[in-house]
Amino acid sequence: MSLTPEQAQRLRLPHYPRSAGHDPEWALTHLMGPNALWLTEALVETMELRPGMRVLDMGCGTALSSIFLAKEFGVQVWANDLWIPASENWARVQAAGVADRVFPIHAEAHALPYAEGFFDAAVSLDAYHYFGTADLYIGYFARFTRPGGQIGIVVPGLHAEFEAGVPAHLAPYWDWEFGSFHSPAWWRQHWEKTGQVAVERADTLPEGWREWKLWLEICRDAGYRHSPNDLALLEADAGQHFAFARVVGRRPGA
Ligand SMILES: C[S@@+](CC[C@H](N)C(=O)[O-])C[C@H]1O[C@@H](n2cnc3c(N)ncnc32)[C@H](O)[C@@H]1O
Repeated sequence: MSLTPEQAQRLRLPHYPRSAGHDPEWALTHLMGPNALWLTEALVETMELRPGMRVLDMGCGTALSSIFLAKEFGVQVWANDLWIPASENWARVQAAGVADRVFPIHAEAHALPYAEGFFDAAVSLDAYHYFGTADLYIGYFARFTRPGGQIGIVVPGLHAEFEAGVPAHLAPYWDWEFGSFHSPAWWRQHWEKTGQVAVERADTLPEGWREWKLWLEICRDAGYRHSPNDLALLEADAGQHFAFARVVGRRPGA
């Protein structure tokens, strides 16, 4: 599996200049879904990260986002995941040269081993919808970030909630787990009603569905792991419903 120069060029997107500086084969080799670097860059351009900050990367998968954050922003990252063993991520972190700043942790989202208020910020890329849709979860999750700290997520989502079930053109590709995809307005209300975070932003990534489709096409053409069903769904939908939801909140107090 290797990219042609043309494919590599198509993955260099002008609005993700930081991502473009990282080896695309590295991102493809360790992918777990959409391009983790693009999602991370799109999220943190709306957050305040400063060198030395302690950041929780929740559901980091293969820790691509954690390594990216450590390299690009000089932050310390606790790379927390469930499906990927910490030892595997440790090898990746060492190989990437950020062993002094990225700390792999294996922990389930409802049993986090951190001190309350420990983190300056928390992020989660393409993961929070797996564990964060319960009404009370944000109240649990937010407590690990200090008062005044930010919490940001990017998740696969919808422009608006379906009012009358799954649209007919999406039915052939619909997976029941897509039931955890929600709109920015849904996420805003979901977090705000708890009073545990003040939502500063809830929107969709402007070109999110096109970038998701481009990524899947390159994965397919270059022989990397991808979901043909997701690609068919994005083609059928053409940006009508599917998007990436981006939500950033801040823990009250300072
Ligand atoms: C689709 S992968 C995304 C990984 C990575 N953030 C990325 O963008 O490549 C979703 C991740 O969420 C994590 N996850 C799902 N449920 C979880 C839970 N209950 N506790 C902790 N992590 C969880 C999985 O371990 C998995 O790595």
